[in-house]
Amino acid sequence: MTANFISVQGLAKRFPDHTGKGETVVFDNVWFDVAEGEFFCVIGHSGCGKSTILNILAGLDQPSAGTIVAGGTHVEGPSLDRAVIFQGHALMPWLTALANVELAVSSRHPDWSTGRVREHAMKFLALVHLDHASGKKPAQLSGGMRQRVGIARALSIEPKILLMDEPFSALDALTRGSLQDEVLEMRARTKQTTFMITHDVDEAMLLADKILLMTNGPNARVAEIVENTLPKSRSRTDMHKHPNYYPLRNHLIDFLVTRSAAMAKGDGVAFDPRHPPIVRPVHAVAAVGGPALSPIESVARAPTDLSKPAA
Ligand SMILES: Nc1ncnc2c1ncn2[C@@H]1O[C@H](COP(=O)(O)OP(=O)(O)OP(=O)(O)O)[C@@H](O)[C@H]1O
Ligand SMILES: [Mg+2]
Repeated sequence: MTANFISVQGLAKRFPDHTGKGETVVFDNVWFDVAEGEFFCVIGHSGCGKSTILNILAGLDQPSAGTIVAGGTHVEGPSLDRAVIFQGHALMPWLTALANVELAVSSRHPDWSTGRVREHAMKFLALVHLDHASGKKPAQLSGGMRQRVGIARALSIEPKILLMDEPFSALDALTRGSLQDEVLEMRARTKQTTFMITHDVDEAMLLADKILLMTNGPNARVAEIVENTLPKSRSRTDMHKHPNYYPLRNHLIDFLVTRSAAMAKGDGVAFDPRHPPIVRPVHAVAAVGGPALSPIESVARAPTDLSKPAA
């Protein structure tokens, strides 16, 4: 396993400001690595630059400074080794679900026969439980089904790296939950390196191995990288029973509610952008003779979708 399968090195993005004379720095000097096979999530408030990083990683946008090395090569443009699942499904409206997936498969394997392309595309539609709807066009599918076609299409090209920009945020809670379960199940089989942006703390805790926290923009930076301290075999229905669940969840919520803004203003703590702190929130066992610490006592009642910065 390569520890720096994706290596983001000194990445910066700047835009001309409204005066046209100065510059707005979205983020500056961002460094982090994603290991091969890792599920890596990014959380941060709206506008801090998450999609910009993902788009640069996809080769769809250029950084103002810095580089990304992915799978041993410098990212200089889009590649079939890196598939993107956008928030909107971005399907071709005039093609059926099957034809949408076939289009991706045949671009990946131009030498394959029509039959082989079809068989492969059907396999991935079946993976997202949509084989019965293969002949339907996007307009005839529900939002969740369209998103699943988008996922099947991305997976069908068997990319080395899967990039997802809030893939489930437009879906209702039930559909979102079942798609998260499908992603977990597929991940266990494919072991793909995955980079995902989310606003949902519980989604990150369920899916991610590591969670990168970004401070508020402009001038956003990597605040820390949080390791998921829940067991690998977790599921949506049982993860809240683990003693590390609330320490981890409270840590993430606390970051979004207070620390992300405080750090953006400069909290006076020196930091090394090349080596963001790595944090492992775990259940603290009570000190000998002291009161027992109950993780339940510190349950955060904040909503899990905190896309708005704290005032
Ligand atoms: N072409 C552009 N010109 C000027 N500023 C831009 C341009 N594109 C993006 N930005 C700014 O860059 C910042 C980061 O945008 P980005 O879409 O990466 O944020 P984000 O973290 O993904 O936010 P969200 O959670 O809302 O999706 C925003 O403040 C945005 O206004
Ligand atoms: Mg975004």
